[in-house]
Amino acid sequence: MPAFDRRITLALTGASGAPYGLRLLQQLLAANSQVYLLLSDAAKIVLATESELAIPQEHNAAQLFLNEYFNAQEAQIQLLEKSDWFSAPASGSSSPKQMVICPCSMGTLSSICYGASNNLIERAADVILKERGQLLIAWRESPLSSIHLENMLSLSKLGVTLMPLAPGFYHKPQTLEDIIDFMVARILDHLKIEQSLVLPWMSDVK
Ligand SMILES: Cc1cc2nc3c(=O)[nH]c(=O)nc-3n(C[C@H](O)[C@H](O)[C@H](O)COP(=O)(O)O)c2cc1C
Repeated sequence: MPAFDRRITLALTGASGAPYGLRLLQQLLAANSQVYLLLSDAAKIVLATESELAIPQEHNAAQLFLNEYFNAQEAQIQLLEKSDWFSAPASGSSSPKQMVICPCSMGTLSSICYGASNNLIERAADVILKERGQLLIAWRESPLSSIHLENMLSLSKLGVTLMPLAPGFYHKPQTLEDIIDFMVARILDHLKIEQSLVLPWMSDVK
């Protein structure tokens, strides 16, 4: 099996913003990461709505499809089902130390806040929290209710990084890809994964 530089869990949920999650996946693979990939049921609907990606329904076919689409190395993408309780992210003894949820719905954010662990995304996040790993939640909703805000504050106090999927425009994006890359670059920076998508602010000023 190839040697990977890191293991990381990436979850896509049913918030708008699937293209961010797909670009992040591609970048994590390019950075030689092994990715435990979790897609909520709602994420599959949003993916079909917001991207051209036609992921097969059946698990093995979906795994094969993703491997080919992203030109992944053997075992690099580990596509998991919502009740794969015997998988690595489900247990503190085997879980990766980093997890990103991008995009994250308010529903999943709330479940994580209350420790529901009703599916593998919620359980994997719960494991990261109890093991004091790095949990990064890239969320999208607008406007926010007090429920959302209180949940986010609780998670922030637990050490979760909460990133709104709200790209800046000071790098003068020319294309949709530039806008997506702005957010993906910020996420990679927080994961301490080298990226060349967007240079740091003022880095070109001598
Ligand atoms: C096209 C589409 C866009 C959606 N956008 C959002 C969103 O931006 N934020 C959000 O919290 N929920 C959004 N939802 C609703 C969630 O998908 C829904 O609450 C779902 O139950 C979330 O489940 P999950 O957290 O298991 O993925 C959207 C749904 C659809 C179909």
